[in-house]
Amino acid sequence: MSRRPVIFGNWKMNMLRKDAAEFFEETESFLSDSDEADFGLAVPYTCLDVCRKAAIRLKLAAENCHEADHGAFTGEISIPMLAEIGIEYCVIGHSERRTFYAETDEACARKAKALLAAEIIPILCVGETEAQYDSGETLEVLRYQLEGSLADLSGEEVSRMVIAYEPVWAIGTGKSADQTIAQNCCHAIREIIKERYGDGTAEAVRIQYGGSVKPENIREYMNCADIDGALIGGASLKAESFKKIIAAVCR
Ligand code: PGA
Repeated sequence: MSRRPVIFGNWKMNMLRKDAAEFFEETESFLSDSDEADFGLAVPYTCLDVCRKAAIRLKLAAENCHEADHGAFTGEISIPMLAEIGIEYCVIGHSERRTFYAETDEACARKAKALLAAEIIPILCVGETEAQYDSGETLEVLRYQLEGSLADLSGEEVSRMVIAYEPVWAIGTGKSADQTIAQNCCHAIREIIKERYGDGTAEAVRIQYGGSVKPENIREYMNCADIDGALIGGASLKAESFKKIIAAVCR
């Protein structure tokens, strides 16, 4: 089965609405007739509507959500609120949210279930810290995070998801995982999915690598058998750089 590549930028807490709209307009005119992959951006909540208006081919992701439909959760954004404005993807379990906001695998499981029910595709981030990498615990960490985060999902649900392997030591550090590490870990993720849900789900689920991806190295990752795309932080903040990434993928 050939999986459709999926490349997302992740703006984190960057970009004002005016810059976001300009970025989308510039990138859309560049994308015009390329239909080889899903390209999109995870943007701050305040930018979602302006980006939605400017988006033609670009996909949009929220950077977080709350799993409840509504309620007394001051400061949170629900999935129906995202669905109302046509958001198609949502990042969950990013390492910054795990570290700074104590987002757990159990919370990811609840969010994934609710997003899939609303037909919004979760981009679930998993990955080990530098200390875990150094002590050889990577595969154990991936298994643990996946088992927790996918706890209540069926194979059909998992097959619609995107999983991003993002080693924490590679995020925002300029120290990207080399091709072999990235491929081996993405392969291990696919094997864990296979053990639990079977071949069909493992073949369908799209797996990204993330961590210091840039125009100069994205092709290395895209050439790997188990890597179907990338999640890109710093190098997605300038339209010029994101366009180079698109060009490298479409080449
Ligand atoms: P980076 O961030 O590309 O700046 O390393 C990746 C991410 O946080 O998803």
